[in-house]
Amino acid sequence: MVTIRYLGHSAFLIVGKAGSVLVDPFLTGNPLATVKPSQLNPDVILVTHAHGDHLGDSIEIAERTGATILSTFELANHCADQGVNTIAANIGGTVDLDFCDVKLFPAVHSSSLDGRMLGVPCSFVVTIDGISIFHAGDTALFGDLALIGDEFDLDLALLPIGDLFTMGPEDAVRASGMLKARMVIPMHYGTFEAIQVDPHAFCESLRKSGGRCAVLRPGEERGIPDRETS
Ligand code: NI
Ligand code: MN
Repeated sequence: MVTIRYLGHSAFLIVGKAGSVLVDPFLTGNPLATVKPSQLNPDVILVTHAHGDHLGDSIEIAERTGATILSTFELANHCADQGVNTIAANIGGTVDLDFCDVKLFPAVHSSSLDGRMLGVPCSFVVTIDGISIFHAGDTALFGDLALIGDEFDLDLALLPIGDLFTMGPEDAVRASGMLKARMVIPMHYGTFEAIQVDPHAFCESLRKSGGRCAVLRPGEERGIPDRETS
């Protein structure tokens, strides 16, 4: 059983049998965060792009725990310059870690730090204990999401719905149709005034289009049962 815990905004902790993956740990300064960076001990930290609400506390957590930050080339190198362990990859690549595989896909967005562009944004498919999870990062709707749905039999897709900076709820329903994941969990909403979107209304429209959806409150977790062997 893989468990996934929502930490607010786009931050998730994915825990498998032999290791854990933290994604986009924006906790300090996140009004909805229910954990402190000091309470997390991941093996790997995936960062979708350099914006502060995604890079977040990554470097501090990596410094304290020795966790490896995996991201696109320029952002990983920026983190390496701070003295933490990193794996620099890029879109299209797969990184084989001992307890999971991570493949990088595009995201249609931007990536900058302190007002300077820093590499390109990405999304991730994490395959852990036979379960495949797509974390979309910050992205607009774009047609090639369908390629990800064709390549992976996704158990779960984590999709932004907050609009303004990313796809909004209607586009996220269309993205869900392309990704064909068994379950969708919405993210990147409600944290700030500018992205107040009702996740339950999103789930309702997704259900009407035949999808399954779960709204997690920050701090809540959910188990993803093992696939039945066929
Ligand atoms: Ni962003
Ligand atoms: Mn963001």
